[in-house]
Amino acid sequence: MPSSVMPMITPPDRHPSSAAVSASGLRKSYGDKVVLDGIDLQIPAGTIFALLGPNGAGKTTAVKILSTLITADGGRAQVAGHDLSAAPQAVRAAIGVTGQFSAVDGLITGEENMLLMADLNHLSKQEGRRVTAELLARFDLAEAAKKPASTYSGGMKRRLDIAMTLVGSPRIIFLDEPTTGLDPRSRHNMWQIIRELVADGVTVFLTTQYLEEADQLADRIAVLNNGKIAAEGTAEELKRMIPGGHIRLRFTDPDAYRTAATALTGAARDDEALALQLPSNGTQRELRSVLDWLDSADIEADELTLHTPDLDDVFFALTATVPTQSKESAR
Ligand SMILES: Nc1ncnc2c1ncn2[C@@H]1O[C@H](COP(=O)(O)OP(=O)(O)OP(=O)(O)O)[C@@H](O)[C@H]1O
Ligand SMILES: [Mg+2]
Repeated sequence: MPSSVMPMITPPDRHPSSAAVSASGLRKSYGDKVVLDGIDLQIPAGTIFALLGPNGAGKTTAVKILSTLITADGGRAQVAGHDLSAAPQAVRAAIGVTGQFSAVDGLITGEENMLLMADLNHLSKQEGRRVTAELLARFDLAEAAKKPASTYSGGMKRRLDIAMTLVGSPRIIFLDEPTTGLDPRSRHNMWQIIRELVADGVTVFLTTQYLEEADQLADRIAVLNNGKIAAEGTAEELKRMIPGGHIRLRFTDPDAYRTAATALTGAARDDEALALQLPSNGTQRELRSVLDWLDSADIEADELTLHTPDLDDVFFALTATVPTQSKESAR
C-alpha cells in the first residue's frame, strides 16, 4: 500500500498537542563555532527525556535556549504549549530550571534560600513555609536548614538547588546534570524524587554525563554530537543500534585455554588474561549452544560472563571522532 493512503495513526502520548517540549531546527552559534546545527525535539508531557553528549556538545546551550535564558539563532520551539520567542514569560511561568552551576546563595541559610524562591514564586508566607519545610525534608536537608548554605557539602548544595527549583510546582523541569557530584545514595534518592515528579505528571528534561542515569530514568534519550542529534530513542532502541554483545570465557588452566582457543575459531583471544570472547546476541539459545559445545569438548571455563551493549558502548560508538574498536576485538 503506498504510504500516501496509509491511515495516519498517532499514538496518544505522541500527539503534538500533548508535547511538553517541541523544537524544530534549533540553531545556535558562538562566533564561528556552530554549537547547535538544527536540533529537533519532541518530548511528550509526563515523560523523562535525557540529553547526552560529550563535554561541549551543547547540552547546556539547549537547556538555556528552551528555558528562555538565551535565544536561539534559528528554528522554532514550543514549551508548555507556548512559543519560545512569542511568549517567553508564559514559558518561564510553566517551567523550573536547575542549572549546571549552583544558584544557591551561600550567605543565607538553606531555609532562607527556599523562602526566597517561594517569594519569587508569589506564594503566601504560610504556603511558602509549608512548601519549604516539605521540600527540605524530602531532600534530607531539614537538619541543616538553619545553617548558612556556604557550610553545605557539594551534594547538599546540589540537593538544595533542585529543591529550590521545585518550590513553584513547575510542570516542566529542566535539570542540567542534576546528580553531578552526588554520592551513590544521594543519586539514587534524586532518581526516586525525579520518578515521583513524573508520576505526578511533571515532564523532566535532563542532561547527564552518567549513562546509567539516562538508562535508569529516561523514557527517551538523545545523543548530541557535532551540533546534531546523532541518535534518539529508548535506551533499548539505542543499544540495539550498535553491535557489542559478547560472551567472555576465562580460563585459569593455560592448556584448557589453548584447547578452547584452537577449537573456537571465531573467538577473539586475550592470551594474557586467558580469555576468549565470542560475539553474541545474548539469547538463551545461543548461550546454551556455547555451553553444550564446551561440555561436548570437555572444556571447563572458570568464568563465563555475558556482556550486552550498554549505553556506554552506544555513547562511544556515536560520539567517536575516530572509529573505535574494543581492545579485545582489536587483537
Ligand atoms: N557564552 C558563550 N560564549 C562562547 N562560547 C560558548 C558560550 N557558551 C557556550 N559556549 C561554547 O558552546 C559549546 C557548547 O557548550 P555547552 O556548555 O552547551 O556544552 P555542554 O554539552 O553543556 O558541555 P558540558 O558537558 O561540559 O557541560 C562549547 O564549545 C562552549 O565553549
Ligand atoms: Mg553543560
